[in-house]
Amino acid sequence: MKIPFHKALIGEGEVNAAADVIRSGWLTMGEKTFEFEKNFSAYTGAPDSIAVNSCTAALHLALKAAGIGPGDEVIIPAMTFIATWEVIRYFDAVPVLCDIEKESFLISAAEIEKKITPRTKAIIPVHYGGEACDMDAITDLAARYKLVIIEDAAHALPTLYKGKMIGTIGDITCFSFYATKTLTTGEGGMITTADKGFADRIRRLRLHGITKDAWNRYSDKGSWEYDVSEPGYKYNITDIASAIGIEQLKRCDSMNLMRRKIADKYNNAFSKTGVLDLWGVRDRGECAWHLYPVRLKTGALKISRNGFIDEMKAAGIGTSVHYIPMYRFSAFKNTGYLPADFPGCEDMFAREVSLPIWPGMSDAESDYIIETVIKILERNKR
Ligand SMILES: Cc1ncc(COP(=O)(O)O)c(C=O)c1O
Repeated sequence: MKIPFHKALIGEGEVNAAADVIRSGWLTMGEKTFEFEKNFSAYTGAPDSIAVNSCTAALHLALKAAGIGPGDEVIIPAMTFIATWEVIRYFDAVPVLCDIEKESFLISAAEIEKKITPRTKAIIPVHYGGEACDMDAITDLAARYKLVIIEDAAHALPTLYKGKMIGTIGDITCFSFYATKTLTTGEGGMITTADKGFADRIRRLRLHGITKDAWNRYSDKGSWEYDVSEPGYKYNITDIASAIGIEQLKRCDSMNLMRRKIADKYNNAFSKTGVLDLWGVRDRGECAWHLYPVRLKTGALKISRNGFIDEMKAAGIGTSVHYIPMYRFSAFKNTGYLPADFPGCEDMFAREVSLPIWPGMSDAESDYIIETVIKILERNKR
């Protein structure tokens, strides 16, 4: 059996919606995008949703709206995708790396507070795997130190925190619709905010800083004339992607349920192995389950994490590692960060493997994954 690490659940609804846009002759941002944004706001409860072409673009625009400039410090977890870091560097600002908690894989308010200096301007909490950070504590901290909260919710649709949808808590929240995410448009992203000032500026900046609905300038509803208030970016999404997003959003809950069922099945089987540490998700019903990370108890095994990945590959199963802590990249060579300062990230990185979890996985496929993991572990127990 061959099981990829990820496979998107795309049905006839998505295929037909994309085909209809292509047949319409209007392929870039237009009515479908505005419908997608409206539906996204209705789904999350966020007052404003602005669609863009990636979560990286969303994070960039969020930092721009927050007024980040050269020398400003922005606190992020060291255990995240590199996009969370690089957008800060776009401004010649300083990304300040923070360790994660060993069991939740999330940054805590206590760790963040240790990193706050007079130059700190913002925090980017990352909801790793689709589990919400402790937003009450982070919001309280941000209020005390007057910091902007930009949530990296690339993994967190749908994620609830104490009954509130992620997308309605921080000042600005950024979602990803990349190929492997819980809702995909191939490439894409969404920004949500309750701040009208942020929303208006981000909406302008995603399309060159143009002050009017320039997307509309070629239709009979629009006008050729427009102004540019400041330099912007070419970050708009297309109507083809938005049409796919509208269809995906309709099944966001059912796809989440499919992920949850796989997670429950895995938890049940893997808790009995004795050689895996499972993810300490606080409330399993509220997690987006973008990832299913396990950590090998390497002391009890003859096999390393990399050896385990190789054996899974030989059995036809794709896996991944989330993440390489960023201070280990060569881009960080002269930044002074030491692995020893990040015990949470180091423990995770040494032992973590992400197993396939995607909606549409058959029972036979999840059974095969479970059997294979257990066989590899049994064969390699000390
Ligand atoms: C935590 C996190 N942040 C940001 C991104 C960037 O998302 P995108 O590929 O949509 O730019 C990703 C993508 O993998 C991610 O996992």
